[in-house]
Amino acid sequence: MQRRYLVAGNWKMNGSYAANSALIAGLKQATAEFGAIEMLVCPPAVYLESVGRELADSRLLLGAQNLCEQVQAGAFTGEILGAMLTEVGCRYVIVGHSERRALYGEDDARVAAKFAAAQAAGLVPILCVGETLGEREAGVTEKVLARQLDAVIQACGIAALTHSVLAYEPVWAIGTGRTASPEQAQAVHAFLRGEIAKRDAIIADSLRILYGGSVKADNAAELFAMGDVDGGLIGGAALKAADFLAICSAAQRLGK
Ligand code: 13P
Repeated sequence: MQRRYLVAGNWKMNGSYAANSALIAGLKQATAEFGAIEMLVCPPAVYLESVGRELADSRLLLGAQNLCEQVQAGAFTGEILGAMLTEVGCRYVIVGHSERRALYGEDDARVAAKFAAAQAAGLVPILCVGETLGEREAGVTEKVLARQLDAVIQACGIAALTHSVLAYEPVWAIGTGRTASPEQAQAVHAFLRGEIAKRDAIIADSLRILYGGSVKADNAAELFAMGDVDGGLIGGAALKAADFLAICSAAQRLGK
């Protein structure tokens, strides 16, 4: 099946009004050229509204980096409800990023609850999974990924994956300049799709699986050319308009 490429920029904890405006202005100059793909930016929560306004007359979509697992407003200091993200114009939200898992103690159960909360609010969750270098070297990559994926399938049901995106982000490749080879990425993406296909072949076939981890302008095309790689979740290279657009160009040229 033809899956439409998605190229998503995760700005992480970077930005300012001035930097965001300059970046969005740079991106908007070229977005008309990218009709075959979907493009998404995920700024820090405090900037969602202002970035959303700047995106208003463009094809760029807005996403958040995190949300609260609760589905009702209430006494959860510092947290952000999914419905609030929807209200400011978000379409997507990243859940289970390895930095959230490793630095903020989000376990599989919490990630699954966030996935469910995102969908309850009408957001499309981008579920991140990935192994550490130690796990890869110990030969347990598939076991770790299956565990992370299964937690969501157990909690939300296989049908929930219909309205979601999966992102494979090997922890050892994030921000390190050490990208997974196209073959390594393809092997894991095929494994993940196969795990889903065991439960539902149609959902597995239509699910977009993004690769994230040191994607740059000069390696995006070879990664995106792999059969089970349906776009990218981009960190550092999403902070420069020229770099992000070059990555989008690679997807556009392959245009599924
Ligand atoms: P880098 O592209 O900076 O390696 O970050 C990847 C990432 O974590 C995107 O979510």
